[in-house]
Amino acid sequence: MPSQFPASFPRARLRRNRRAPWVRSLVAESRLGPQDLIAPLFVIEGTGAAEDIAQMPGVQRLTIDGAVRAAREAVALGIPAIALFPRIADQLKDDDGKEALNPGNLVCRTVAAIKQAVPGIGVICDVALDPYTTHGHDGLLRNGEIANDATVDTLIQQAVVQARAGCDVVAPSDMMDGRIGAVRDALDGAGFAHVQILSYAAKYASAFYGPFRDAVGTGTRLVGDKKTYQMDSANSDEALREVALDIAEGADMVMVKPGMPYLDIVRRVKDTFGMPTFVYQVSGEYSMIVAAAERGFLDREKAMLEALLAFKRAGADAIVSYFAFEAARLLQRR
Ligand code: PBG
Repeated sequence: MPSQFPASFPRARLRRNRRAPWVRSLVAESRLGPQDLIAPLFVIEGTGAAEDIAQMPGVQRLTIDGAVRAAREAVALGIPAIALFPRIADQLKDDDGKEALNPGNLVCRTVAAIKQAVPGIGVICDVALDPYTTHGHDGLLRNGEIANDATVDTLIQQAVVQARAGCDVVAPSDMMDGRIGAVRDALDGAGFAHVQILSYAAKYASAFYGPFRDAVGTGTRLVGDKKTYQMDSANSDEALREVALDIAEGADMVMVKPGMPYLDIVRRVKDTFGMPTFVYQVSGEYSMIVAAAERGFLDREKAMLEALLAFKRAGADAIVSYFAFEAARLLQRR
């Protein structure tokens, strides 16, 4: 025991500092507030409509007007940023995800509408092809494999298109090698030196993305799995290498994803690099809590807040969560 902790029982009684809410509050090492949260939004074409997502009860796909309203609500709740995910029409998908590069595509129009109506909110766009490809992969399929460098060439165009639409932060979630540097150069070259890059640096091939694939309509389409580009859940040192490369290539913030099964990675990344470190509490983590609460196995609000606070304790600076609105409402009332 280090000498700054000389006392032992019975002089030391750690329960003293847990006696009442007021003291627990004073000695709390981590805190969770609306300012820590990023709200993901799923968007669809149309106006005045919303679609339920079967595998994510309580989350809806919104038309652009609904997304604008949600952005306004986020600001009112103190949530600093939103992350947009388009669910595009099946007819617009093709093998190479070309719709991703259309400056008038759904996500670009959503960004523009939100930045016009709610300029103060941070808007984050995913850089990856999966919402746009018929096969549901994040990259280009060539001879049955995801072609790294050809994919990067497309992703840099996608990033520039999104920046031009007014997006504040581009978030490559594709896990191709070398894409952060390429995206940085492309943004700088196109006059978007101010646009930030949130790198999904340590993104694991995970079963916990299942409900998200339902939400963006890639679930039943996905051919095979994403294990040749997303990380193996056995690995932790490799996550540090991924993060180191992305920082060297110009990432402004790094993300660990999924969240709860990878808290050890969050801690190592934060301790090693001291970078703004974000974590993504993914769809499966959301749906687990919701489903267990629906069956009466868990208290929804308590489980939600405990899971979110755990990310702060593990060292995360911000948390992407489908609970963002609900959590912010609860936290505001406290
Ligand atoms: C893909 C992407 C995924 C998520 C965000 N961006 C899914 C995947 O990699 O298949 C998952 C988010 C979630 O599960 O909530 N670019």
